[in-house]
Amino acid sequence: MNRIHIAAAALITAAPAPALANPLSLDTEQMLGRSVFFDTSLSAQGNMACSSCHDPSTGFTSPRDDFNAAGAVVEGSVSGRFGNRKPPSAAYATFSPVLHHVVDGDDVTFVGGAFLDGRATGGKLGTPTADQAQGPFLNPAEMALPHAVCVVDRVLHPSDPSRYPVSYADVWGPASVFEIPAALTADCGDADAKITIEDEDLAARVDEAFDRIAISLAAFEASDEVNPFSSRYDAWAAGVGTLSEQEQRGFEIFTAEDKGNCAACHVLTPTGRSQHAIFTDWTFDNLGVPRNRDNPQGASYVDPGLGAYLETDPLYASFAADLMGAQQVPTLRNLDKRLSADASRAYMHNGYFKTLAGVVHFYNTRDVLPRCADPLASEAEALAANCWPEPQFEATMNTEELGDLKLTAADEADLVAFLKTLDDR
Ligand code: HEC
Ligand code: HEC
Repeated sequence: MNRIHIAAAALITAAPAPALANPLSLDTEQMLGRSVFFDTSLSAQGNMACSSCHDPSTGFTSPRDDFNAAGAVVEGSVSGRFGNRKPPSAAYATFSPVLHHVVDGDDVTFVGGAFLDGRATGGKLGTPTADQAQGPFLNPAEMALPHAVCVVDRVLHPSDPSRYPVSYADVWGPASVFEIPAALTADCGDADAKITIEDEDLAARVDEAFDRIAISLAAFEASDEVNPFSSRYDAWAAGVGTLSEQEQRGFEIFTAEDKGNCAACHVLTPTGRSQHAIFTDWTFDNLGVPRNRDNPQGASYVDPGLGAYLETDPLYASFAADLMGAQQVPTLRNLDKRLSADASRAYMHNGYFKTLAGVVHFYNTRDVLPRCADPLASEAEALAANCWPEPQFEATMNTEELGDLKLTAADEADLVAFLKTLDDR
């Protein structure tokens, strides 16, 4: 009985949109984006929405206990197809600036963009999250629709209009809605279909609508619903709430340069439009995270991160070698949000870590403990054997700001306690 129940639950890849806590908190464009975000019809098999991998109840990252416990990559709409990274939080992502570089003497630092390698630069639609939002619909390992016309048709003419309390026409004007010949969308359920729009005017309209859908999605992602800043830390920082003594000690360790030094990258100063700390400076770093042997791309898969993206841009290619394995500094908000107390979470780009205690111990002892004999040892195995597996990219690993923090076990526990204060209510 139990087993049947679990198997059935695994097929459900997205919960319906939760009820709006405060409908007045979203403007009409954000309402449209919200409907798109939770719409499972926008995938090849009708089984996957953005929220399937970015669920509000787990801080807009993956709610899937089964995947989090292992490879951490979420299966796409077409079963058996996987990408190579763990879904990061889609919350607080809209504060990232357009990808750019900052020159300081001989140093060049890359800042901003969306995706862990910054490749959704914001150069197309003006913000990284709008650029990013066009990716998943057409990614064969994600929502897997074969052409943008499929997304546009299903948003402009939803089969279930009740999913769209605010319609595309409400936001972009009645004249923005147009008919799409049925023949063009007949194969939208086939991820591998080849669809071409011969009519240039129609193709241009589809492009424009696809851009507007992405812009609306990004508007929702920028809303207070997605970025509530409602954690216990925020209340404490605003002087209207309390933290325990242990949590306050953890905060001191987090910020002190000669202790955790975490705030060097997970900065506490508000960035960009935000009045609050996002806990990232949107730069990129290679922390030396080991491989995750459960990665669907194979046990020995290594993730080249920003370096691989820079290689594709003639302006930036010369910086690529030094940034192999660098990933964007993520927000630290909502790290401990889970569907149930015993549900798994996964941390870092490949989900190698399953516990915050393991992450903190790694920052503290990466360069102190011996290398594990097994380069593919899991976090649990490494902790048990008091070792760390080799990093994915040794040459570019940051050895200045982490790896030997000289924290005590009590310090580590305090840091973990502080991290848990960053969950939104
Ligand atoms: C199958 C799972 C999956 C689905 C469905 C999905 N995403 Fe993601 N999302 C990911 C993964 C994995 C990444 C990181 C990919 C990378 O860095 O290459 C990501 C990255 C992001 C980011 C960037 C976060 C950051 O820190 O840079 C945002 C924002 C985001 N997704 C929003 C969306 C939206 C909007 C949709 C729907 C249109 C969506 N996602 C659908 C898995 C998914
Ligand atoms: C040199 C910059 C830097 C410093 C210092 C730093 N971090 Fe990070 N942090 C990162 C980057 C980059 C990532 C993502 C790395 C990856 O995915 O490979 C990350 C990821 C994390 C994650 C995983 C988040 C997630 O959603 O997967 C946690 C937790 C974390 N850091 C906590 C800390 C703590 C606690 C400290 C201090 C002990 C700290 N960080 C210090 C750059 C830094």
